[in-house]
Amino acid sequence: MTARADLQMSTALVTGASSGIGAAFAEAYAARGARLVLVAPAEPRLREVAERLGTRYGVEVHAVPIDLAEESGPDQLAKAVAEIGLEIDILVNNAGFGTRGPYHELSADRDHREVMLNVVAVERVAHLFLPAMVARGSGTIINVSSTSGFQAVPYMAVYGASKAFVLSLSIGLWAECRSRGVRVLALCPGPTDTNFFEVVGSRMSAGGRLRTTDEVVAAAFRALDRGQAYVIDGRLNYLTSNASRLLPRGLVARITERVLRSGSLAALPGAAPVKRRAA
Ligand SMILES: NC(=O)c1ccc[n+]([C@@H]2O[C@H](COP(=O)([O-])OP(=O)(O)OC[C@H]3O[C@@H](n4cnc5c(N)ncnc54)[C@H](OP(=O)(O)O)[C@@H]3O)[C@@H](O)[C@H]2O)c1
Repeated sequence: MTARADLQMSTALVTGASSGIGAAFAEAYAARGARLVLVAPAEPRLREVAERLGTRYGVEVHAVPIDLAEESGPDQLAKAVAEIGLEIDILVNNAGFGTRGPYHELSADRDHREVMLNVVAVERVAHLFLPAMVARGSGTIINVSSTSGFQAVPYMAVYGASKAFVLSLSIGLWAECRSRGVRVLALCPGPTDTNFFEVVGSRMSAGGRLRTTDEVVAAAFRALDRGQAYVIDGRLNYLTSNASRLLPRGLVARITERVLRSGSLAALPGAAPVKRRAA
């Protein structure tokens, strides 16, 4: 893990920094002395995180409230960062959400926002900062994918497809950039204890305990130190994600559809509760 002194001259930009995995990354980088640029749509929550981290770690923190699912979101971000006047050394492209249910019943507008945030914004925000990193010969980009990126996910089909995009994009950029001094990592968490499931509207998961955001961040830092292209957080998640890759895709999708059908169609009743780690 990188020591505090190493990041004192660095700036980390984290999207989706107001809660969950993004807030944990923001705290981890603040603890290492980095300046922060934090992005999320809900201003009060974002400012609360920014003030807490600035006070606790004595680092410069900029809260930039932007809705990245809007077409103009990435351009607004570029403008805001230019006004702040900082170079971005570390980008955590984390903001994202999921929709759940039979595709033909889901809101087309909400699915569109999901694609705009999880796919379009991730790619456009990487474009904003990667060229300067390559020119400087240094930088880090962490794109937050998911174990859902390794297979089709019935009843979360748009989410799974969006995370497959992030995984593939990141590994392609990793291969392009590794000899140019820029580290690119696809971070693939499995079910993690955040607001994600509240936003999805379901407490169901494939079983097992939820991982903590600190475990997810630690997995990312280890993977960066090792120069990995991607990392799956958690041994069980690693095994299940890789097992699905050994089987025909159609078969995996059919099995997953059966497992998720009851919870998906009946919404919450009957869904297996995820296990939270004892406090
Ligand atoms: N938790 C899991 O089980 C899990 C597993 C695999 C991958 N992931 C991925 O991890 C990433 C972080 O999710 P999380 O689990 O930490 O969930 P979370 O607690 O719901 O955090 C999501 C973050 O994204 C922000 N966000 C939502 N819509 C946005 C928008 N339109 N523009 C900018 N920011 C927006 C949220 O801000 P507001 O609070 O203001 O809306 C929040 O800060 C996502 O990409 C998710 O797909 C999560």
